[in-house]
Amino acid sequence: MTYLVRGPRVGIRHLALPDRAEFVALNRESADFLAPWMPGRPITTPEAFDAYVARFDGRAHEGFVICRRDTGAIVGRANINNIVRGTHQAGTLGYCAYAATARRGYMTEGLRLLVRYAFDELELHRLEANIQPGNTPSLNLIKRVGFQREGYSSNFQFINGAWRDHERWAITVEMAEPGGA
Ligand SMILES: CC(C)(COP(=O)(O)OP(=O)(O)OC[C@H]1O[C@@H](n2cnc3c(N)ncnc32)[C@H](O)[C@@H]1OP(=O)(O)O)[C@@H](O)C(=O)NCCC(=O)NCCS
Repeated sequence: MTYLVRGPRVGIRHLALPDRAEFVALNRESADFLAPWMPGRPITTPEAFDAYVARFDGRAHEGFVICRRDTGAIVGRANINNIVRGTHQAGTLGYCAYAATARRGYMTEGLRLLVRYAFDELELHRLEANIQPGNTPSLNLIKRVGFQREGYSSNFQFINGAWRDHERWAITVEMAEPGGA
């Protein structure tokens, strides 16, 4: 398998149409696990998958999967959304694992690789992540990956039937450098 970037246990590649069946099955199995935290329509049908993939235009939105290198199985997904170029060079990171693949360290390794890819290959300078205050696994994850908390946004995003407050976290190239903050 050709990955954009690889670590000891996982590799990252773009999400693609041949992933439809595996991706839909994972999202179906994990529907309850994802519902409180993930915005948008659940990707539990082939039609929802096709609509989801169509968003990734390679300019403002990029969609990736995190795969186990030994089996090739998808263990997580990560997007960089709302990419703004010019004097910002910034994007917003979204991600999830699945019920059967969480808490194994795959997401930590995968997001570290993706941050490196975003800075080195996509030439971004800043990545942001917005996380509900009650989402402890996600807050722990983003902290481990090197993001810093920047603030709090009330009623930030409509998820699971209500407008949810989110903490705002970010990492810049400077922070990701060895010896960075
Ligand atoms: C948020 C989410 C991606 C976090 O993923 P995760 O599974 O905790 O992240 P990792 O796979 O890197 O696992 C790290 C955890 O597994 C533990 N772990 C268990 N076995 C491990 C191993 N072999 N290697 C490394 N870590 C291991 C770590 O100790 C760590 O636990 P901690 O956070 O309590 O310290 C996941 O919970 C998820 O998808 N949630 C639902 C969707 C969601 O919330 N998305 C984000 C919206 S902002």
